[in-house]
Amino acid sequence: MVDWNMTELKHILKAEQFTDIKELDRLFGLADELRAADEKGQVPQSLAGKIVATLFFEPSTRTRLSFEAAALKLGAQVISTENAREALSANKGETLQDTIKIVNGYADIIVLRHYEKGGAEIAAEVSEIPVINAGDGAGEHPTQALGDVYTLQKELGRVAGLKIALVGDLLYGRTVHSLLPILGLYKDVTVYLVSPPQLRFPKEYTKTRIVLKEFDNVEEILPEVDVLYVTRIQKERFASEQEYQNLKGSYVINGENLKKLKKEAIVMHPLPRVDEISSEIDSDPRAAYFRQAQNGLYLRMALLSEILK
Ligand code: NCD
Repeated sequence: MVDWNMTELKHILKAEQFTDIKELDRLFGLADELRAADEKGQVPQSLAGKIVATLFFEPSTRTRLSFEAAALKLGAQVISTENAREALSANKGETLQDTIKIVNGYADIIVLRHYEKGGAEIAAEVSEIPVINAGDGAGEHPTQALGDVYTLQKELGRVAGLKIALVGDLLYGRTVHSLLPILGLYKDVTVYLVSPPQLRFPKEYTKTRIVLKEFDNVEEILPEVDVLYVTRIQKERFASEQEYQNLKGSYVINGENLKKLKKEAIVMHPLPRVDEISSEIDSDPRAAYFRQAQNGLYLRMALLSEILK
């Protein structure tokens, strides 16, 4: 079962709520069904009459727009604030708790991106409607991870047995913090953690049965992996510009790297990319990141319809 945070409400706060592969398969099946319906222009309007509030205290392209598109396609209406840190009363000193209590009176579900780790949990504590964590600072991003695992399943037909490299900013990159625990549900997954020594994967997210191996360089593992999952160096998390500049450009995946990758391997990235994947590889069939972003839409449609049914 999915542990919906052990309350009546179906909050999605962290990846560790997801403990059952069968439940994930059901969710992915629902995403497939909604995709097929969408392609025929026949999405069931199961969320008609509902209001989805998207509160984003940090920038976003895919997460916010895909949640909003997902809601609209299912017949819901959307109220949204994309620049909540400045636009909401938070800017006048209102607490997150108060903002959430107010939005409780206007909407049926809240999709929240907050700049503080733990922000979604703080919101869920006071919320009487479901809260979905759409990224909490350098914490987690569970719906991205679900979309990523859905992508593995679609692209490679399986998750069990895969050799996956997580590359880049593993310290601050919230998508990989949520991805690793979900990968750990599957048998015989190997994960290579490739990062500069300063940006290693935090221990608090490594409670997994996967045997982890750490690397500084990406070259040596390229021929071995089925999945190269690249992340952006998270500029906004660094204390100084200098610190960021020193690490920026640590990894750049280009055509040369791709030659070493297996023919049937894939390259993923939660996006946005800065310079860590050269656009010269976009036309390679192994470049899966734009398909990955599209999968996020259908996965979020499945989640919304599941939570609000
Ligand atoms: C990521 C995020 O916001 O954590 N983007 C996303 O949601 N797809 C990754 C990032 O910003 O680097």
